Amino acid sequence: MDGAIMSEQSFTPDAAHQRAFRDALGRFATGVTVVTTRTAEGAVAITANSFAALSLEPPLVMWAPGRFSRRFAAFAEAEHFAIHILAADQLPLAQHFAANGYDFTGPDITEGLGNVPLLSGCLARFECARHAVYPGGDHAIVVGEVLRVCTAPGAGLSFFSGGYGRIEAP
Ligand SMILES: Cc1cc2nc3c(=O)[nH]c(=O)nc-3n(C[C@H](O)[C@H](O)[C@H](O)COP(=O)(O)O)c2cc1C
Repeated sequence: MDGAIMSEQSFTPDAAHQRAFRDALGRFATGVTVVTTRTAEGAVAITANSFAALSLEPPLVMWAPGRFSRRFAAFAEAEHFAIHILAADQLPLAQHFAANGYDFTGPDITEGLGNVPLLSGCLARFECARHAVYPGGDHAIVVGEVLRVCTAPGAGLSFFSGGYGRIEAP
């Protein structure tokens, strides 16, 4: 057995194994964010779990918009954007902005740096200026310089194996 678990599966992530590859990637538990920006046409938001901390000095964070998204250009070209780390009770917001990036009639909005729409009630919010955008296959890697931070206590919204959950503060 060489230490392998009986139900383990091994595969090359080729076209025939796209589903299995997605499932494997989904085994990395993440938080859930909503990224917002403003274009000439108006405010845009997107639910994203590709967020990661990157650098303390200078203060940098990153996330990855997908080229498949109709909202890709808005975020790949954004000079300013805000990343909101969602609290557990903000699941409806995650579902809303996964389905529709342009409807801001529900949530409470204020204006941040670069006229970016800011959501309230998040665990953390990072207002960013674009630092760099790198190619990343069918995604782009957007690195933001954090200009302003806002935090609040609470349980986090998680995403794991294709489903939402709740992460309690330790
Ligand atoms: C939990 C979750 C995480 C997501 N993470 C990302 C992400 O990191 N990057 C991305 O481009 N889209 C991500 N999406 C998909 C977008 O929210 C959105 O559904 C997709 O871009 C479709 O957009 P469109 O209808 O405007 O084309 C995620 C969706 C969910 C539900």
